Amino acid sequence: MIAIRSEREIDLLRRANQIVAEVHVALDAMVRPGITTRELDAVAEEIILASGGTPAFKGYRGYPAATCVSIEEVVVHGIPGDRKVKRGEIVSIDVGVCYKGYYGDAARSVACGPTDKKRKRLLETTDLALSRAIRAARAGNYLRDIGRAVERTCRAERFSVVRDFVGHGIGTEMHEEPQIANFDTGDRGPRLRTGMVLAIEPMVNMGTERVKVLRDRWTAVTADGKPSAHFEHSVVVREDGGEILSASDACVWGQCDG
Ligand code: MF3
Ligand code: CO
Repeated sequence: MIAIRSEREIDLLRRANQIVAEVHVALDAMVRPGITTRELDAVAEEIILASGGTPAFKGYRGYPAATCVSIEEVVVHGIPGDRKVKRGEIVSIDVGVCYKGYYGDAARSVACGPTDKKRKRLLETTDLALSRAIRAARAGNYLRDIGRAVERTCRAERFSVVRDFVGHGIGTEMHEEPQIANFDTGDRGPRLRTGMVLAIEPMVNMGTERVKVLRDRWTAVTADGKPSAHFEHSVVVREDGGEILSASDACVWGQCDG
């Protein structure tokens, strides 16, 4: 059963997601050569607590931090620590917040300073894939339309879509039904209805789609060591497409045209 949220609940989900967005704005401005992933995480946790929320990731299945910070070949679930960001690297930041029992979840990738054309294209393509997926999150469409939009967009640029991790419903739990693949599963799945709340999160690799999980049991890296990007928004299904709950004016992603 996929929950249909009332407008009152959607307001609470929006508040949780607005804390997430605020964290993204702050961390975005901090990404520079030499900063450690731990420093980014510390600021995130401070902002979340100061906003009356709790970091949703911390303690989730034993995860030790408020954020996931995934550099370059790290696809997702990079544990903040001593690793320093280098100029030109892709940094993916994933933030989750619980506020009054409702969850927010969003991620974005940025380059640290100037980078090469291929990394730029990976970032733009993943962002575009998310925005098309959000447009597909429209009442009357099927779940399959979301994954198809992502896959088509990334294939056109000869990038690969990660299959081992998926998006999810979000609400009074961080992970709810349905699982949202970023590719065509071949099954149309449930019909989307107004009031469903979805965390859509394409993970896109420059090389192989294959990933492996390190011995820490969290860090997921590309099997070939090539870079990866990750963009995520929490959205409400509406008649005309997904309404983004985790959007911010100061730092825009998942809403480019085309
Ligand atoms: N956005 C990711 C997800 O939805 C990150 C959560 S993993 C955690 O699964 F362990 F850090 F919580
Ligand atoms: Co998520």
